Amino acid sequence: MARSYNFSAGPSILPEDVLKIAQAELLDYKGTGMSIMEMSHRGKEYTAVHEEAIANIKSLLKIPDNYSVLFMTGGATSQFSLIPMNLMGAGQSADYINAGSWGAAAVKDAKKLGKINVIADTSKEIPTRMPKNSDLKFNEDAAYVHITSNETIAGTQLKDFPKTKAPLIADMSSDILSRPLDVSQFGLIYAGAQKNLAPAGITLVIIRNDLAERAPATLPDLFQYRTFIAESSLKNTIPTFPVYMLMLVTRWLMAKGGLEGIQKINEAKAAKLYAALDASSFYKGTAVVEDRSLMNVTFRLPTEELEETFIKAASKLGMTSLKGHRSVGGIRASIYNAFPPEGVDALVAFMKEFEAKNG
Ligand SMILES: Cc1ncc(COP(=O)(O)O)c(C=O)c1O
Repeated sequence: MARSYNFSAGPSILPEDVLKIAQAELLDYKGTGMSIMEMSHRGKEYTAVHEEAIANIKSLLKIPDNYSVLFMTGGATSQFSLIPMNLMGAGQSADYINAGSWGAAAVKDAKKLGKINVIADTSKEIPTRMPKNSDLKFNEDAAYVHITSNETIAGTQLKDFPKTKAPLIADMSSDILSRPLDVSQFGLIYAGAQKNLAPAGITLVIIRNDLAERAPATLPDLFQYRTFIAESSLKNTIPTFPVYMLMLVTRWLMAKGGLEGIQKINEAKAAKLYAALDASSFYKGTAVVEDRSLMNVTFRLPTEELEETFIKAASKLGMTSLKGHRSVGGIRASIYNAFPPEGVDALVAFMKEFEAKNG
């Protein structure tokens, strides 16, 4: 059976080589007579998987020693609340940069828990864009500054991160591990797994250890980053299969040349798609050129009817999930780390044919 070119924004395509290893190990993991899903999260086989997943993340991102790598649950969405609950002391405020639907969602939840200053808002602008770092005016007493590095729906991505006095916190759900990163610029980074990391079920959190000490002692243990640091994310039963998949995906990334290697591949894939958009007056990219995302390429056709026809015709050829987010419409091609370059070539060829017929 042929695998489809799956352009889904999340849950998203996983590397075929990883799926094959998981398939081969599913019934009998390393001679145990059971799958990794069926054994104790405190046994020696799973412990090795857990430790390797953490070590691989640390090595790929060159994470400094004063940070911890945590696996939590509740998706990136639960972090929208856990961050203010842990890091914003009583009477404090925090600065938020709202560049799209996900920035707005983070603001909405944080507002329930404290005083939030939205210091830049481009979330309703078309073409979509990121606020310019030079326009940002931070509040002196902000507990932290929150940004979204890649707006999955708007198709925009931050190329440079702002320099902040307060700890910088980034939702990197849709571009984590897609390019090299200086982790020391951040107080906390978080990402739902289901785009560049693993199947849905775990949330990766990278936190500077001292920040975890800000949490009020009255906060329930399982809501505190401190607990996850102290117990290596094993206070309660962890979703073991997503961590196992993350271990395999990070091994796969290392074999691709690490983050420098995957960045080159990602840049080449995105460049081909954006070149196809720029060469045409039929297709129109929705993001300003300088903020274009390397992960989610968003564009429009002249009419919604043509967009519907385009999506259906592409799907018949095995190019699936090209429909833009229901809140904005249009076309979105999500080309995360695991999306094969041949799939981009296939889409570009199809776009040319479609334009010739319908343009
Ligand atoms: C940038 C960003 N943040 C947060 C989320 C929400 O993630 P989750 O569904 O894991 O809660 C998404 C999901 O698509 C996202 O793209």
